[in-house]
Amino acid sequence: MSDKQPLLARYPTITRVPYHVGIIMDGNGRWARARGLPRQLGHKAGTENIRPVLRAATEFGIKVLTIYAFSTENWSRPADEVSGLMNLVGEVIKRETNDLHANGVCVRHSGRLEGIAPNLAQQIQNAVSLTSNNQRITLNVAFNYGGRAEIVDAVRHIMADGHPAAAVTEELISQYLYTGGLPDPDLIIRTGGEWRLSNFLIWQAAYAEYYATLTYWPDFDETELAKALEEYSQRERRFGKAPQS
Ligand code: IPE
Ligand code: IPE
Ligand code: MG
Repeated sequence: MSDKQPLLARYPTITRVPYHVGIIMDGNGRWARARGLPRQLGHKAGTENIRPVLRAATEFGIKVLTIYAFSTENWSRPADEVSGLMNLVGEVIKRETNDLHANGVCVRHSGRLEGIAPNLAQQIQNAVSLTSNNQRITLNVAFNYGGRAEIVDAVRHIMADGHPAAAVTEELISQYLYTGGLPDPDLIIRTGGEWRLSNFLIWQAAYAEYYATLTYWPDFDETELAKALEEYSQRERRFGKAPQS
């Protein structure tokens, strides 16, 4: 099969491609430990893995990729790990933004800007505004993100905007989430072998399909993504309806 064929042609068992995929990028620390390396090198390898997975996602035809990079709970890690992660994010933005822009990637941020160092928050906002009109794929970075914090923030904004109680609907809440305007995720992938959401997209993923793999995030590649999409293709999404006989 020629390399020129779309990626999908190499995976005939992928019969349905999800529009929006969320990835819980977990297992960097264990990846490093397995190699006798410090955790920070696991995080570095993890950030370097984003680019090839984003490329594969784009080629598979995924339109929104949300990646969980740092949770509101991750602040409780040792201070040197937290500052190491913050530095890495700054470096990645500096290194990748122009390329992402040139490749038609629309960068979004989901999470609280408060709490992030002002210069890093500014870098994030610059990357978001530079790429805001790009349409090939949306890379939504969940950074300083917590699903509960997101709902709290949404409720605060709804009240501050003066919406009466009777006007509060599921649609209104969805619009006020950080992900407002994005469709709900169809598939949530978790690397690193845990079977929990860890506060990721808890509202939006109400009917997402869930896929977990033992593979640590730095080792998750196109083949692993294809496996998740193959399994997704087999799922029957019922949304509460009776099964199709
Ligand atoms: C995920 O990897 C990255 C972040 C949560 C920032 P971990 O650092 O959680 O790696 P493990 O789970 O300890 O292996
Ligand atoms: C989830 O991973 C958060 C990110 C991947 C950014 P954690 O490693 O923080 O999750 P728990 O602590 O195992 O639930
Ligand atoms: Mg972890």
